[in-house]
Amino acid sequence: LSGQSTNITYQEHTISREERAAAVGKHEGFRGCTIWFTGLSGAGKTTISFALERTLNKLGIPCYGLDGDNIRHGLCKNLGFSKEDRQENIRRVAEVAKLFADSGMICLAAFISPFQEDRLDARKIHESENVKYIEVHVNTSLEVCEQRDPKQLYKKARAGQIRGFTGIDSAYEPPENAEIVLDAGKDGVQECVQKVLDYLESVGLLP
Ligand code: PPS
Ligand code: MG
Repeated sequence: LSGQSTNITYQEHTISREERAAAVGKHEGFRGCTIWFTGLSGAGKTTISFALERTLNKLGIPCYGLDGDNIRHGLCKNLGFSKEDRQENIRRVAEVAKLFADSGMICLAAFISPFQEDRLDARKIHESENVKYIEVHVNTSLEVCEQRDPKQLYKKARAGQIRGFTGIDSAYEPPENAEIVLDAGKDGVQECVQKVLDYLESVGLLP
């Protein structure tokens, strides 16, 4: 990739978040936000965030799940798993998540996002524009993830067939400032979903 956008002027929207919220369905005002799930491969990010998406959908709350495996089929198909590529992956996805949230949806983002610096960047991308950002650490131990190994990726990484695999030969830096920590190695999917719902309720995001 090369170059930078130049000669560009930010165009202010003419519709406010409140006005969008009125059309999208609101509860005590604007509800758009991003719930960001971080954790090892196999921790349960996809399962929990998709289950939460279903629950919110049933409540009539507009929401959308962005998932690492899926986004890497499209928007980020030109990125690999080096530190730089992961950084660009998280930056792009955070920008997209912010747009979903700004539109009034609850955006569920499920990405390993192993580096603290990149997660702080994702938070900043939201908070600098006053978009609520909720970090959820799907805190499943490497042991459990490797035991589950749903895609047989740990097996391949151990065999040297995948290089730079998170938790094996690429770092996972646990978050220090997550709003929610899920013990997803022990608690079931519905328990984890409920914990996030309880948090959303406590901050006034649920009807
Ligand atoms: S990151 O680190 O946030 O940019 O990764 P992400 O976009 O979430 O993509 C993670 C999924 O890619 C698959 N995969 C790998 N994960 C980690 N390390 C390496 N080297 C790797 N190669 C492929 C894997 O299916 C991840 O999905 P999850 O759901 O986390 O298991
Ligand atoms: Mg996944």
